[in-house]
Amino acid sequence: MNGKDILVLGIETSCDETSVAVVKNGREVLSNVINSQIKIHEEFGGVVPEIASRNHVKNINFVVKEALKQANVTFDDIDLISCTKGPGLVGALLVGVSYAKGLSLALNKPLLGANHIEGHIAANYISHSELKPPFLCLIISGGHTHLVHIKDYNEFEILGKTRDDAIGEAYDKVARVIGLGYPGGPKIDKLAKEGTPNIVLPKPHMDNLDFSFSGIKTAVINLHHKTPDINKADLCISFEKCTTEILIENTLSALEDLKINTVALAGGVSANSYIRNEFEKLKQKGINVYYPEMILCTDNAAMIASAAYYRYMNGETSDLTLNAIPNLKIS
Ligand code: KG4
Ligand code: ZN
Repeated sequence: MNGKDILVLGIETSCDETSVAVVKNGREVLSNVINSQIKIHEEFGGVVPEIASRNHVKNINFVVKEALKQANVTFDDIDLISCTKGPGLVGALLVGVSYAKGLSLALNKPLLGANHIEGHIAANYISHSELKPPFLCLIISGGHTHLVHIKDYNEFEILGKTRDDAIGEAYDKVARVIGLGYPGGPKIDKLAKEGTPNIVLPKPHMDNLDFSFSGIKTAVINLHHKTPDINKADLCISFEKCTTEILIENTLSALEDLKINTVALAGGVSANSYIRNEFEKLKQKGINVYYPEMILCTDNAAMIASAAYYRYMNGETSDLTLNAIPNLKIS
């Protein structure tokens, strides 16, 4: 590698975004093409796995070509082919994994299957050139709610996780039941801006840094059913307030336990404006707070290429037995 720039092609197909990126040295995005299927899944009220896989198959070649074109590079310039190996929908993951394996074989270039959750963490490296481990990362997405100590680029310790719903799942379910549609998170975010947080919701009490959102979700849904004229904007901002208080309490406890003062948020729900505003206030306590740029919060391939880069720099590659691992954990 001899100080030469490393260009990583990233492929992300874990859910409903077909995304391909070219990233230089783990931090500089040369292209990040995201083909979202949201419009296709909207009419079903959520992601339909088979439809997601079929659309990845249909789109991936075009998205790869576009990513190379926007980065102004050819396959020859790429040093590493990376893809998301998990967690995610198995049929969707298999499209990216198979495509990456085919490319690696045809081009005779190294291959690396990356962990999607590590990708969300790495989105912060792209947005903040000064950010280096150790720090605390709060990953809040449609599939995950994790509080992770990032000890080093490839060394993680999970300090807390959800015992039931992921936070994004709770946002999406609440939005669906109260009639806002899919994807619910951004719709709750928008409507909540017109509301007042005057509805008290039950907060779970945990004896460690784990999370639980299903009780709050059920309370909101029950209130909606039992009080038909309830103000939906008030309900949305009260839901945001309650869930954000839990996120902040656990974050502060973890920072105190670890005796560090830097937290990075990651994952689709970290795009939420109420959550960002509340975490912003932690800066007054001397805590450094980072969030990825909006486009890097939700699923994208640049974050996968970045995570893959740090694994590759650690001497890791995958062989052609690489497979999708739908329930892959962070290690
Ligand atoms: O990270 P992501 O794209 O996919 C997973 O890895 O799960 O996250 C998607 C989740 C969805 O639940 C979506 O509703 C939520 O992120 N989300 C938001 C916002 N934007 C996306 N939740 C709250 N506020 C937002 N602005
Ligand atoms: Zn994700």
